[in-house]
Amino acid sequence: MSIRYIQCSNAQKIGEQVAQLFINQVKKNPNSVFILATGSSPVMTYQSIVKDYQLNHTDWSKVITFNLDEYIGLDNRYSNQSYRCFMDENLFNHININKKQTYFPDETLVGNKYQKLIDQYHQVDLAILGVGNNGHIAFNEPGTPLNEQTHIVNLTASSREANARFFDNNINYVPKQAVTTGLQEILNTKQIVLIATGKAKKEAIEHLKQAKQFDPNWPITALTQHPNVIIFTDNLE
Ligand code: GLP
Repeated sequence: MSIRYIQCSNAQKIGEQVAQLFINQVKKNPNSVFILATGSSPVMTYQSIVKDYQLNHTDWSKVITFNLDEYIGLDNRYSNQSYRCFMDENLFNHININKKQTYFPDETLVGNKYQKLIDQYHQVDLAILGVGNNGHIAFNEPGTPLNEQTHIVNLTASSREANARFFDNNINYVPKQAVTTGLQEILNTKQIVLIATGKAKKEAIEHLKQAKQFDPNWPITALTQHPNVIIFTDNLE
């Protein structure tokens, strides 16, 4: 296990540093494969990547991306809350990525099928993760086994509450299910960066810091099983 912790003064500084990891990787290998996350945590990273693209024209045309998760059963009036829309708005529409090479899990890609799609390219070079207040990564909720692959998940009340802010603060509109990449695909990557800011994430990060092995009650502790992880935080207050 190798987990490095980097504390930054604010979310923007984290975004700049994490973006640089992606930009360096794209420059090193234009055919890089990435796993990408949605949520507030990666927003500043995506903004910094877009800024770099506008200034330096880093070429993303050959990059391949796999997103971590996607809702199932999104109400029509909230179709703009799909994770595909999120990625378009926050990143893909603003760089020269080929959208045909940007993948999302769906109900047809459960089991080993998402990993097979990844394997058509090569091992994921870098994955960016956020963490749920309850320690979930992607939508691997507490109780998920380490060897789980892409699967359909019933979202916990805690995760639905946390996401109600995108659904007019009404939990009833938050989808009850999602398709998520499993812990196995996340661990099968060369490098992982996880971003956690604010006090709601403190408990999850504390559990990871103390963990010597995987604890299914805190899915984030799966990262103890990976050889190359960097955790970016603010002061978690
Ligand atoms: C969401 C996503 C996760 C994300 C997490 C934290 O529901 N499924 O991939 O990492 O919850 O979100 P945020 O970064 O908005 O705090």
